[in-house]
Amino acid sequence: HRNLLDLDALTAEEIEHVLQTAVPMKEILARPLKKLPTLRGKSIALMFYENSTRTRTSFETAGKILGADVTNFSVAQSSVNKGESLYDTAKTLQAMKIDLVVIRHASAGAAAFLAEQLKAGVINGGDGAHAHPTQALLDFFTLKERLGEIAGKKIVIVGDILHSRVARSNVLGLKKLGAEVVLVGPPTLLPPEMGYLGVKLSHDLDRELPGADAVMALRLQLERQERGLFPSVREYHRLYGLTKERLAKTGKATIVMHPGPINRGVEIASDLADSTSSVIEEQVTNGVAVRMALLYLLMGGGTSDVVD
Ligand code: CP
Repeated sequence: HRNLLDLDALTAEEIEHVLQTAVPMKEILARPLKKLPTLRGKSIALMFYENSTRTRTSFETAGKILGADVTNFSVAQSSVNKGESLYDTAKTLQAMKIDLVVIRHASAGAAAFLAEQLKAGVINGGDGAHAHPTQALLDFFTLKERLGEIAGKKIVIVGDILHSRVARSNVLGLKKLGAEVVLVGPPTLLPPEMGYLGVKLSHDLDRELPGADAVMALRLQLERQERGLFPSVREYHRLYGLTKERLAKTGKATIVMHPGPINRGVEIASDLADSTSSVIEEQVTNGVAVRMALLYLLMGGGTSDVVD
């Protein structure tokens, strides 16, 4: 197996290797003619049981640029609706000699389950509130591009930490890379156990902003909230919403990140999202480059020890 399930399986050196490999991939992405034969003859299946714009499309784009055949498994039109299990669905795809599966699923552990069952490689495209390793890697690529180094930098992650697989994977990786990480959110959305990962927890965004090199806003996952558990959307924006005025409290040229999709005017003001402080679009571009690097390392020219 050659899988990427979460970042706890990677050393700092292995993460750096993925990020280094993504540098030439981003150059290829900028070419007018972007097509390489690297993964010609290899096949990738995208199994997205939850909605996605960025992750699914960027894996498809990345695979096609590298010459792989990419099959989009559409859950809505599949035999999942006739009750076929995840196990049998994956076995069916494997019988078609698929080399690698990218899965997004509402259940934490779905990607690990597939990795145990399949001979094909598995990449976790997001499983429940557990992990989203490729998002974290593209975030690290963006941080390095803008800040030079990650070690010693202060990264504030603010929002719905409770439901966020992005926050969990980012914390695991950022700690390995030597960043100072502060998680901020209302008590209802900031589980105390996140503190065990060696990061500071805070309910006061304004107090944590001074000195921040990057502020990463996370989406309020309204579809996963239990009613009445969180501050009202208006109250949330007042206390935790990023605005230009609030960002000025960092006292430096801080970059603003968001994995998307964004709720404009809730976790981030619209004019800030579209400003030069925002690297949100660059994160999306970098997502293609990082996923090209991962496909290359897992399926093509990489060594098996890069990613377990
Ligand atoms: N950031 C992210 O995973 O976006 P999608 O849900 O659109 O893939």
